[in-house]
Amino acid sequence: MQTETLTQPLEKTNSKIITLKINGVETQISLKPWVSLLDCLREYLDLTGTKKGCDHGQCGACTVLCDGKRILSCLTLAVMKDGSEITTIEGIATGNGLHPLQKAFIEHDAFQCGYCTPGQICSAIGMFNEGKAKTEADVKELMSGNLCRCGANTNIINAIMEVKNGGDHE
Ligand code: FES
Ligand code: FES
Repeated sequence: MQTETLTQPLEKTNSKIITLKINGVETQISLKPWVSLLDCLREYLDLTGTKKGCDHGQCGACTVLCDGKRILSCLTLAVMKDGSEITTIEGIATGNGLHPLQKAFIEHDAFQCGYCTPGQICSAIGMFNEGKAKTEADVKELMSGNLCRCGANTNIINAIMEVKNGGDHE
């Protein structure tokens, strides 16, 4: 008996037009449904501040904020976030002024190669928004999903603690 194939070949799968508000700018983009948010940002929109490390949810380099919550953009399909507000490292500074965390990272020498830094900063802002970090031990635990291959962890935690204790992270 002849069977009919109902699934379309991958290349014929329709693209979907989605709208994301990225760093305050409403952006419409047509994407195949399997494109990750990370690839959408880097490959389609040229926002290369967000880094691809493992591409498997293990290093935190790709962390961005989605409606104020930190997410791993490598594990997120862009189409899942249609209508959301995305903040990447390019949208963290206000005007010409650096975000207090960016200043603290510079002051505390909290990066070497800098590859993990955008994810660390987005993740720390997301952690502040969660309101669960009370102590330095909490911060270490809640930032443990962001790996630094250069070993700048101590200075990263120091930078985050300074902003946390200064209370001017908004
Ligand atoms: S690139 Fe997403 S967690 Fe490593
Ligand atoms: S500064 Fe190089 S990976 Fe963190």
